[in-house]
Amino acid sequence: MNCESFGECGGCALPLEYEEQLSRKTESFFDIFAGFDLPETKIFASKKSRFRNRGEFRVWHESGGVALSMRKKRGNGAIAIGRCPAMNNRFCANMQAMADFIGDRPALFERLFELDFLASSDEKDMVVALIYHKPIDERWSEAARAFGDRFDIGVIGRSKGIKLVIGDEFITERVTIEGKIWSYKYIEGAFSQPNGYINHKMLGYIFDLFEPIDSDYLELYCGNGNFTLPLSKKFNNLVAIEANANSLATAKINAINNDCDNIFFARMSAEDFASAMNKTRPFNRLKELDLDACRFHTALVDPPRFGLDCASLNLIASRERIVYISCNPKTLRRDLEDLSKTHRVVSAALFDQFPYTEHIESCVILERK
Ligand SMILES: C[S@@+](CC[C@H](N)C(=O)[O-])C[C@H]1O[C@@H](n2cnc3c(N)ncnc32)[C@H](O)[C@@H]1O
Repeated sequence: MNCESFGECGGCALPLEYEEQLSRKTESFFDIFAGFDLPETKIFASKKSRFRNRGEFRVWHESGGVALSMRKKRGNGAIAIGRCPAMNNRFCANMQAMADFIGDRPALFERLFELDFLASSDEKDMVVALIYHKPIDERWSEAARAFGDRFDIGVIGRSKGIKLVIGDEFITERVTIEGKIWSYKYIEGAFSQPNGYINHKMLGYIFDLFEPIDSDYLELYCGNGNFTLPLSKKFNNLVAIEANANSLATAKINAINNDCDNIFFARMSAEDFASAMNKTRPFNRLKELDLDACRFHTALVDPPRFGLDCASLNLIASRERIVYISCNPKTLRRDLEDLSKTHRVVSAALFDQFPYTEHIESCVILERK
């Protein structure tokens, strides 16, 4: 990567040429699955630079201004970054100017310790969050308005118990799948896939695998509805579960904006939904849903790094088809040991969602034996 801090900055923990880091990651994926009968795995490479649509920087205060920084790869301490080519083009091009703008205004820089951004792949929308160790007020709002106008962005200020929003706190991400444009709102502060290019590949890969089927679909860990929305065209009725309130609220808005009226969303943990399905515990928030009438042929799960809990694993093990998206191949392997008693893996893919880091995103599709 064409970056003067490459090798020194902890943001790129695997500072190798792009192809080399991908082949190292691929090898490590196959090592984890050694002895496991995986079908041929498709490898989806990322763009080599400008691939991150969201990022977090520490703010470094120095006499005469502030700098955006990352932790050093080795040892303690931080390294100032004026240009980060891993980030979305628009943010990369403006990050130094943003730091300079903030550094000239005490209302913006005093006790500021973190700057986060979220941008759309088409670079039309961007939101920047400024996070403080002191309360923020009207004086901050005035300066933040000027910051937002200067860079044409939404600005969010956060400090303990306070959140102030200037302009939009979300961006709109557009994804084309088989000629149809899907429009997603991503809200700042909630989960969204960081690598827009790879996310489009993941959506295309999963969408292409299935023909429409006269049955229902269950999704656990649905986030903002990233996978749920396009898959709503393949099934009769969908139930999508998500624990985070902001993500679920965004998913509901995204469903309305994309005319998806066959999805029932519930804010609850995957574990709780499994107990509702097992009838071990009733939930008021599911009272509008006739669980006995749901015929979940397919289940899609996209859990956090620790993988699936026992109850969720048992719940999906009774489906005909399982789509398991994972950001941790070790917990995927653990869960596949169980699922492969009843299912066989029919398709597998590795997505380089996090280039220049050790992180591996993958997806396997299982069908009942
Ligand atoms: C890896 S993200 C995937 C989100 C979504 N599939 C996407 O592509 O944007 C995992 C999601 O699981 C949610 N989550 C974490 N723990 C959960 C739990 N126990 N039950 C349900 N959702 C959970 C998080 O809030 C997050 O939105």
